[in-house]
Amino acid sequence: MTMNQKAEDLKRILIVGSGGRENSIAWALSKNQSIEQIFVCPGNGGTANFDKCNCLKTQSEDAKTIIDECHRLEINLVIIGPEVPLSEGLANKMREAGLTVFGPGKDGAQLEASKEWSKALMIENNIPTAKYWSTGSKEEALEILKRFNQPLVIKADGLAAGKGVIVCETIEESKEAIKDIFSGKFGSAGKKVLLEEKIEGPEVSIFALCDGEKLIVLPPAQDHKRLLDGDKGPNTGGMGAYAPALLINEQDLKNLAELVLIPTLKGLKKKKIKYIGVIYAGLMLTSSGPKVIEFNCRFGDPECQALMPLMGEEFASVLLACAQGELEKAPKLTFNSECSACIVAASKGYPESPQKGDKININVPSNSSIQVFHAGTTIDKFGNIITSGGRVLSIVAQAENFDKAFELAYANLKEINFNDMHFRQDIGYQVRNI
Ligand code: AMP
Ligand code: GLY
Repeated sequence: MTMNQKAEDLKRILIVGSGGRENSIAWALSKNQSIEQIFVCPGNGGTANFDKCNCLKTQSEDAKTIIDECHRLEINLVIIGPEVPLSEGLANKMREAGLTVFGPGKDGAQLEASKEWSKALMIENNIPTAKYWSTGSKEEALEILKRFNQPLVIKADGLAAGKGVIVCETIEESKEAIKDIFSGKFGSAGKKVLLEEKIEGPEVSIFALCDGEKLIVLPPAQDHKRLLDGDKGPNTGGMGAYAPALLINEQDLKNLAELVLIPTLKGLKKKKIKYIGVIYAGLMLTSSGPKVIEFNCRFGDPECQALMPLMGEEFASVLLACAQGELEKAPKLTFNSECSACIVAASKGYPESPQKGDKININVPSNSSIQVFHAGTTIDKFGNIITSGGRVLSIVAQAENFDKAFELAYANLKEINFNDMHFRQDIGYQVRNI
């Protein structure tokens, strides 16, 4: 549990979170022969499906309880999945208690937790992004809109579970969005708003694993944020993803690292922030070049589920090295060169008010190129797997090209069912023939 433990001493890992992202990280780490136990706190109905993986249910979810459990279980590495505990400073408290943690502290998590803060960081470090204004006053926001006289994208400053961004088609809609946010639609996340120039172009997500000083770049991925086929319907946490995103080639990715990821890490360092964890940049490739739409301080969900099957077995050692601030000592992270396709199955009513409590049947045959990652699932007292959230699970498949990967994923999705299961039929339309 000390800061300078060796990769071969990495035996017990705790992952904080309950989603598909954490389920896929646990699966990826479980393939590492030298790891003995993986706990996911609180985990979900699929956690224990993987070798060496178990849910850790604690009496309460407060930091002290989880830290005490980490000590009791002699955890060598903690990985914090979601943005909320990161922005509340769980990583800080764990580090103070002597734990080795992958995930930024409260200061670094502002990259995601405050859009105003992250925009300022972008401007300070010449990172390309859409023009914006930020204000804590409704009147001023309406005044800015009037002056600009075009529909704007209206964003709540704080964390709003992926719902705090309203892309407006008309000035009237922008006005309504401003009023909604200031009347408390997103609670305290909407104390301030950002008004952003609307930009256009395909979107792609890029990721870096950081040790505070250095970083390594992961394959890019593409998410599908809208609920319905044809990118229609409300924004969701993400209905599917694929990796690597073919929109950008290897050279483009290097250029984007120079343009966005490296300056971000440098900018954080200038603020005396030792950023350990994932920098996730959501980009739009506009006609005037790539621009950052948002930063997240964690792996994307469901991008993570598409990415994890591409990670070489060095992944665990690399996360540990990041957590120890010693990325230079890590083995080179290799990536499986296949195409990975992920489709999310959601429950009726998602994202507004997901239906829960339905029995899930899963008959997907065991195959090393197919994974079922659980998210909103739990096990009832009879041992049935039942739905307990909006995004219920995802199916992920790998193949030599995206046509085959998606064919495999969709064919196996037929072996999963629950009442009113909803999924998009067109995930990956950008890279396959449909
Ligand atoms: P976010 O939650 O920040 O990822 O935003 C959700 C979605 O809103 C993004 O994936 C984009 O499709 C869209 N969006 C965000 N900012 C802009 C912008 N400035 N111009 C156009 N679309 C945007
Ligand atoms: N899939 C988008 C996100 O994780 O923010």
